[in-house]
Amino acid sequence: MRWWDIDPVLELEGELFPEDAWSAGMFWSELAYARGPDATRRYLVAEAADGSLVGYGGLAAVAGTGDIQTIGILAAHRGTGLGSRLLRALLRAATDFECAEVLLEVRVDNAPAQRLYERFGFAPLGIRRGYYQPANVDALVMRLADPASHAAAADAAVPDAGRGASADAPEDPPPASSPHSPPNTHQGTNTHG
Ligand SMILES: CC(C)(COP(=O)(O)OP(=O)(O)OC[C@H]1O[C@@H](n2cnc3c(N)ncnc32)[C@H](O)[C@@H]1OP(=O)(O)O)[C@@H](O)C(=O)NCCC(=O)NCCS
Repeated sequence: MRWWDIDPVLELEGELFPEDAWSAGMFWSELAYARGPDATRRYLVAEAADGSLVGYGGLAAVAGTGDIQTIGILAAHRGTGLGSRLLRALLRAATDFECAEVLLEVRVDNAPAQRLYERFGFAPLGIRRGYYQPANVDALVMRLADPASHAAAADAAVPDAGRGASADAPEDPPPASSPHSPPNTHQGTNTHG
């Protein structure tokens, strides 16, 4: 994800997560951590053949633990393997960051996302009551130990199926004039992955 992707990402964000969409400032903050040798974030976009943005995902790595911050595919492009490709790429990023484990939160009523995560070896760890506000929906916390081996296994087992789209666009740092200084958290807003 590059800084100029933020506007189109925000349009998707409103469709994918209407109840608790991230702000532009939050994406700017995340991308500010995705640059240089001390980077702790990796954000990727999925583009259709015509160059339009149809999905995105992001991972944060702190002290050897990765956290899927967000992942989403536009409804019309789901079920073609793009979500899997994005997740695989994020697990590769976790491996690059030398994470020993990867965590995520997912709404307890989000069966498609839970199936995706289970396919990659994520296992339930616990419940966070009322994690998603204002809807007051619980989050299932899931954990993947040893993302390196799971990413490799997923590479071998799941052929790239994102017909006509790419989930491997390289990230690019935002300019130094990013209007928001990067916080360590999401300014009180929850993750989407
Ligand atoms: C969760 C999400 C990212 C999955 O994205 P996706 O692109 O549909 O994921 P995939 O295509 O890799 O897999 C989805 C299904 O399509 C199937 N599939 C993948 N490629 C396929 C192909 N070429 N032909 C047929 N089926 C295919 C998968 O097996 C999977 O089936 P299942 O749900 O029965 O297990 C997507 O549903 C989404 O964006 N949801 C809204 C946002 C959201 O909830 N994000 C997660 C927050 S925690």
